[in-house]
Amino acid sequence: MIKVVAPMAGITDAEFLNKVIPYGFDVATLGGYSLDQPTIDASRKIIERGRNEFDFSLDEIFSHIESEVNSIKKVHSNVKVSANVRATTPRPLIKAGNIKNLDIIEINCHCRQDEIVAIGCGQEMLNRQDLADFISEVVDNVDSEVSVKIRANVEGIDTLAIAHLIEDAGADYLHIDAMKKGVFEADWELLTEICNNVDIKVIGNNSVNSRENLEKMIDTGVDGFSIARSVISGNLDFDISNF
Ligand SMILES: Cc1cc2nc3c(=O)[nH]c(=O)nc-3n(C[C@H](O)[C@H](O)[C@H](O)COP(=O)(O)O)c2cc1C
Repeated sequence: MIKVVAPMAGITDAEFLNKVIPYGFDVATLGGYSLDQPTIDASRKIIERGRNEFDFSLDEIFSHIESEVNSIKKVHSNVKVSANVRATTPRPLIKAGNIKNLDIIEINCHCRQDEIVAIGCGQEMLNRQDLADFISEVVDNVDSEVSVKIRANVEGIDTLAIAHLIEDAGADYLHIDAMKKGVFEADWELLTEICNNVDIKVIGNNSVNSRENLEKMIDTGVDGFSIARSVISGNLDFDISNF
């Protein structure tokens, strides 16, 4: 089972990840980071209205990620480091995916903040006609593995069809926030359906906040799981190390 710290903008930096990796994680995700001027401008608007975001200019973001990766590798050399990133075109993602020692570049098709969606990024990526080409271009040009993080049950989007598209585009991981509107647990049925129908490695995410939900997540057939909110306190009150 692959155990992943999920990205949280403004929170999951190297210092935070170094503290929580010892709970038993195999992959630590930095970011989300914005990698081009439109996404950086969107992030700044989000910050202006008081929400947490990382704030780096184009001049500093790539060297910043490299230094964060090395800060983790220095302490936890066996952990894979991933960076969750947004950009309007593949090129900045390719540049990030070739950062030395970065193991996984994660394309953010998940963020639902208005400022990011308005420029066609985050979950709006799921509506792009050229999404498959976008992902393939990244896959074909980076040294790292490629993960695509999506949100499930986005209105008007067939999540299973998107899972097939991401697999066919050559990504290594489908990281899926199986959020279901109106309930406080992941959409276990949808995750099971996806795991039964794709061969790509599936990292299930959402509501892994107790041993009970962790077992429900594992029962869906995922190859791994990720946790965001429950690691914030740095005090996971259920043991993930036996899975
Ligand atoms: C404060 C905060 C910031 C987040 N930032 C990001 C992000 O930058 N990129 C991303 O893909 N997901 C982001 N997420 C979503 C989480 O990675 C995760 O998908 C979501 O919280 C559900 O998982 P959980 O139930 O384990 O918290 C964020 C979540 C929180 C709470």
